[in-house]
Amino acid sequence: MATAVKYSAHKVLERPQEPTTEQLEPLKEKYKSAGQDHVFAFYDSLSTTEKAGLYEQLSNIEPGYINEIAGEALNPAATKEQSKVSLQPLPESATASVLDSKQEDLEKWYNSGLDLIAENKVAVVLMAGGQGTRLGSTDPKGCFNIGLPTEKSLFQIQAERIRKVQQLASEKHQKERKVVVPWYVMTSGPTRGPTEGFFKKHNYFGLEKDNVFIFEQGVLPCISNEGKILMENKSKVAVAPDGNGGIYQALSTSSALSDMAKRGIEHIHAYCVDNCLVKVADPVFIGFSASKNVDIATKAVRKRSANESVGLILLKNGKPDVVEYSEIDKETAEAMDPKQPDVLKFRAANIVNHYYSFRFLASVMFSATRLPHHVARKKIPYVDTQSGETIKPEKPNGVKLEQFVFDVFPHLELGKFACMEVKREDEFSPLKNAKGTGEDDPDTSKRDILEQGKRWAQAAGAVVVSESAMAGVEISPLVSYGGEGLGFLKGREIKALAVIETET
Ligand code: UD1
Repeated sequence: MATAVKYSAHKVLERPQEPTTEQLEPLKEKYKSAGQDHVFAFYDSLSTTEKAGLYEQLSNIEPGYINEIAGEALNPAATKEQSKVSLQPLPESATASVLDSKQEDLEKWYNSGLDLIAENKVAVVLMAGGQGTRLGSTDPKGCFNIGLPTEKSLFQIQAERIRKVQQLASEKHQKERKVVVPWYVMTSGPTRGPTEGFFKKHNYFGLEKDNVFIFEQGVLPCISNEGKILMENKSKVAVAPDGNGGIYQALSTSSALSDMAKRGIEHIHAYCVDNCLVKVADPVFIGFSASKNVDIATKAVRKRSANESVGLILLKNGKPDVVEYSEIDKETAEAMDPKQPDVLKFRAANIVNHYYSFRFLASVMFSATRLPHHVARKKIPYVDTQSGETIKPEKPNGVKLEQFVFDVFPHLELGKFACMEVKREDEFSPLKNAKGTGEDDPDTSKRDILEQGKRWAQAAGAVVVSESAMAGVEISPLVSYGGEGLGFLKGREIKALAVIETET
């Protein structure tokens, strides 16, 4: 996988020096031959620091490569292959469902997953490089307080689940050894600083600092609808994170992968920051995937409706794949299952919970593979290189190029891939939209956590008395990871809204 910009977006130049003519000329020539030399339009009028900064930034971009990926993304060829695309639901042989699996299988997977965790062979990777524009918050999404009584952030909830799963694994093995599930947190230029600051401020939420590895994904230049690199100001190219598919490159360049190798990690759970119900390092999922000896597994929930904004996990031309909601046609989205006419034909909604074998992530074949770039049309403020004016466009004027994390799926044979259907109410409640939207917003996240806590308490034998629908029970992940260990609630009356932070 090639990249265009390999440096950290926040790199600060110490004692900047004006680039020499010998340095500058070949760079200018490179941009000229790629038809992108407008990026030097204001160069002569810049200060030394600005010249040095722009030189550094432009040196890390390969304009010919940008032209190539922008051309492919903006003008997808209507090739023969595309017209012959065959989409099919995944075959039963590649799927399992916690909804109808035998209890003994679920227990077997849970126990073997917990054993692997206890052997310190499991790591988690969090994708937290997105900018959360739909949510309307300038902070990284993980810092968001969804309004629970304890005001815990998404990062804190996830960290506490890691602490609990470490404890469960350690207890299963009579605390014979220290159990560590290292947490690799992918950030981006805009989210790295605030994420690091938040973790420090909260003392890594009780995890050991050495077991939290914060790293940064790459960025790509934003381009105009005509394929020209956009300038954010006179001395800086406009850039954006390269999509959550940037994870593969970033794991390698940040040395997260070599850290995993040193620790002897064999199984990885990767997930998105915005899902407040995510079962981080889920032993059932790890045990299931390891027992199938697959290289990638993914969790799915049943799609809510034809227009829900979720990718669909399916078979494309015989290979496992995901068709993203922004790219699916209406006919496919609305197709019904011929065997069950009231059910969608393509209903395996992608919740971006992936299992990877370490051998796959580390494989040379795979890291050399170039993933496609997808186009996100956006309103991108820019400097007009003719007039020098800053333009704030009112309609999309350009594109951000993004790689998608699931675009590695088709590189696998079906036998090395598995999909596990899970219960939406237990595992998927994403935070996408601003408060008040009524769908996938802070209130639905809060509601789903409180309702889950209420169900767990009732299942443990408590009587929950609540006066309003939003009045559920917030059970700390440090008390229960997935509803276990709540026997102490048996026969007790709980007046919701309630918080259970400790057994007492
Ligand atoms: C994503 C999935 C979609 C799925 C849905 C479920 C992708 C490409 N799409 O869509 O199939 O059904 O979630 O909620 O995965 N991120 C980065 N770096 C980036 C961009 C995003 O780390 O450059 C992270 C975000 O922080 C977030 C995750 O990737 O944790 C998903 O990003 P988001 O843009 O919210 O994806 P959706 O469009 O909702």
